Amino acid sequence: MSLFNFLVSKTIMHVPGPVVGYFAKDYVAGRRLEDSVAATADLNSQGMIATIDVLGEFIKTLDEATAFKEQCLEIFKAIDNHGLGANLSLKPSQMGLLLDKDAAFSNIREIVAAAAERGNFVRIDMEDVPCTDATLDFYRRLRAEFPGCVGTVLQAYLRRTPGDIASLGDGPLNIRLCKGIYNESREHAYKDGAVVNSNYLYCLEKLFEQGAYVGIATHDEALVQGALRLIDRYGLERDQYEFQMLLGVDEQLRNLLVAQGHRLRVYVPFGESWLPYSKRRLKENPMIAKHALRQMFGIHGH
Ligand code: FDA
Repeated sequence: MSLFNFLVSKTIMHVPGPVVGYFAKDYVAGRRLEDSVAATADLNSQGMIATIDVLGEFIKTLDEATAFKEQCLEIFKAIDNHGLGANLSLKPSQMGLLLDKDAAFSNIREIVAAAAERGNFVRIDMEDVPCTDATLDFYRRLRAEFPGCVGTVLQAYLRRTPGDIASLGDGPLNIRLCKGIYNESREHAYKDGAVVNSNYLYCLEKLFEQGAYVGIATHDEALVQGALRLIDRYGLERDQYEFQMLLGVDEQLRNLLVAQGHRLRVYVPFGESWLPYSKRRLKENPMIAKHALRQMFGIHGH
């Protein structure tokens, strides 16, 4: 890691909001639902679909969870009113998971029920290790009640993930597979990038073997290439998987995949809680700050 990257990743949590906002504006559609609608319409016009996410996680009261639930229900209305190609992603902690598990389940259930009514879909994001078991339990219960309308996320950095794929294989599987973004201990997670990548492709193959619909969520070209090989080996049709990428990240790669005819979904976050999300993205890739600084000072070259 270069000194610049090291400094950004160590100091980003203390940088004032407006500065982070400047660097991270490409990662977030805006503060309001209308912003996510506009961003999604733009992606749709470029042949991509979206998953809309209202930013917010690890809340302090159940009232906040109720407010987030209402916002999710509004998102479905907006998707239908504007004829958007989009579904919804939500975080269990945003729905109250760490405050009251039953209340969180009932909030998420209400949202999935609304999705089912509208013929839409909810992706339950995966958070850190204290949330994993409950999230998978919610997914199991909801897929039984609303088949085809709910999916979840598995993280390739977790040692447990191949086992989770095997045990979830007793029902239809709709999984977003990502590397994983939280800072987990070595006890739970592989820490070496090459091992995470190897586990990613191992898990992806297990999922394909089990006939899962997979959202291949990565911007890592080595993984994209590995996924393309597996798609080819398993003879999958274009509607049997999708690639997924974050708003504002590697648009060139995403355009290349779209041009090759792959289904591509962009994660479109919006909302007032944009700051922690943006800080996480910047911490993850300090190069963004570098590019933005260069742009700001009119420096060209590498
Ligand atoms: P990697 O981090 O190696 O990045 C590969 C390349 O992509 C980098 O070299 C860089 O060029 C570019 N890149 C990656 N991230 C960037 C960024 N933030 N800014 C700019 N460039 C960047 N995690 C989780 O724990 N739970 C979840 O529910 C989700 N959900 C989710 C949805 C979607 C659609 C995506 C794409 C990702 C997630 N993630 C997630 C995050 C995921 O776990 C992972 O942290 C990031 O995708 C980065 O990993 P990559 O596979 O892209 O590889």
